[in-house]
Amino acid sequence: MPTGPQIILLLKLLVLCVTALLFASLIALLLRQPRLHGHINTVFFALTMLTVAGFEALLQFVDVRASFDEGTRKALTTHLWFSIPSALLLPAMIISGKMRRKRLHLALAAVFSALWAGTVITGMRLPH
Ligand code: HEM
Repeated sequence: MPTGPQIILLLKLLVLCVTALLFASLIALLLRQPRLHGHINTVFFALTMLTVAGFEALLQFVDVRASFDEGTRKALTTHLWFSIPSALLLPAMIISGKMRRKRLHLALAAVFSALWAGTVITGMRLPH
């Protein structure tokens, strides 16, 4: 069974990988390829949801917080305040994109971008 720090390290790598996909999808938009943007983000959505589900499952067996001091526990809580709302917004991003509700999609994208930036910044600061 992996240790708490190993799980955090794996989580960081996965967050970096899916963030690279998100950037690729934005480049596709700049190249005026909205369908490619949609395809890349469908993969982004699936991988992010798998990561969240996998992490939740692992937490049933490993108490990641057990090896953390008080400061680190607070840092993890701050991180979850960004990552959980980001994950909750993702289905709405997919649906608004696929239904071509452009104004709604762009409004959600603004909120999602801020939350995802928070997820990455607070996630990378977690010790492992
Ligand atoms: C973060 C910044 C994002 C921006 C600025 C953005 C912007 C856009 C724009 C301008 C379109 C074209 C809309 C149209 O012409 O009707 C689009 C389409 C789409 N977006 Fe996004 N988006 C973002 C993130 C996401 C995310 C996170 C997802 C999914 C997880 C997503 C999924 C889609 C899908 C599925 C489409 C439809 C593609 C198609 O035409 O087949 N987008 N997005």
